[in-house]
Amino acid sequence: MKEIYLAGGCFWGAEHYFRNIEGVVDTEVGFANGDTPSPTYEQVYTDTTGYAETVRVIYDQERLPLEELVLDYFQAIDPLSVNKQGEDRGTRYRTGVYYKDPDDLETIKGVFGKVEAEYGRPLAVELEPLRNFHPADGRHQDYLVKNPDGYCHLPLKLFRYPRLVSDLKALLGDEPDITARLANSAALIKERMGFFWVGFYMVAGTDELVLGPFQGPVACMRIGFGKGVCGASWKEGRTIVVPDVEEFPGHIACSSLSKSEIVVPIVRDGEVKGVLDIDSTDLSTFDHIDAFWLERLVSLL
Ligand code: SME
Repeated sequence: MKEIYLAGGCFWGAEHYFRNIEGVVDTEVGFANGDTPSPTYEQVYTDTTGYAETVRVIYDQERLPLEELVLDYFQAIDPLSVNKQGEDRGTRYRTGVYYKDPDDLETIKGVFGKVEAEYGRPLAVELEPLRNFHPADGRHQDYLVKNPDGYCHLPLKLFRYPRLVSDLKALLGDEPDITARLANSAALIKERMGFFWVGFYMVAGTDELVLGPFQGPVACMRIGFGKGVCGASWKEGRTIVVPDVEEFPGHIACSSLSKSEIVVPIVRDGEVKGVLDIDSTDLSTFDHIDAFWLERLVSLL
């Protein structure tokens, strides 16, 4: 077992996110890297103690490499925002990764470098050794488990995706049949996330995708290479998020009810084998969180 201390804004939501991630064994909320001895929540709330609301994450490095955990952490924060996450403002809501084991530094730096390159701007996330940590009182531990309707600055999907991925892994087990794997994957994603249409298009030959297992209304059966969102994702070998299907040139409308869409390629040995396609009846349903967690999910297939 190893541990890392992650400050990601209000610790109620941050803890709820981490505790759902496969390989996280235990979590505890508290206050890190501040100045006053034995701070209380009320003292930290005054924003004069120097502490950051922080989650102590104990994880099994065999199941969850540190690099993956830190990447997951970045999905739950705005890494450019200074002393503000969601609508919570103050130095206590600053973001930071605090490590105990100096050997972890290189790995964490590597992830910071990757994320910084994606954003193209310096990150506002602290990276420091852990100086001190004081657990918060019992009311704040597992807050959202005890108060399911309690305040949270994070979107609900951040809690659903990690659970979906770990449950899907268990469900698929070592079933070798790809149709069975895809069929149950579509069913579980639809059931858990409530999307309008969830399904797979698989590469058939050199220039076409053909409809595979899906959940939802009847759909187009074949899509050409480079055509529609699915064909474009195949051609470009990357996830495509479409906030408004009307705005995507060449979008193929299988249903007029579909308003936004995400397509994630299934890549094996550098080759696209098919795509996961998800449609929503609302505009702008999908963002970087869906892309990140659906890519993780697709890697299980
Ligand atoms: N809209 C997709 C076609 C498939 S349906 O959404 C199920 C596309 O443009 O590729």
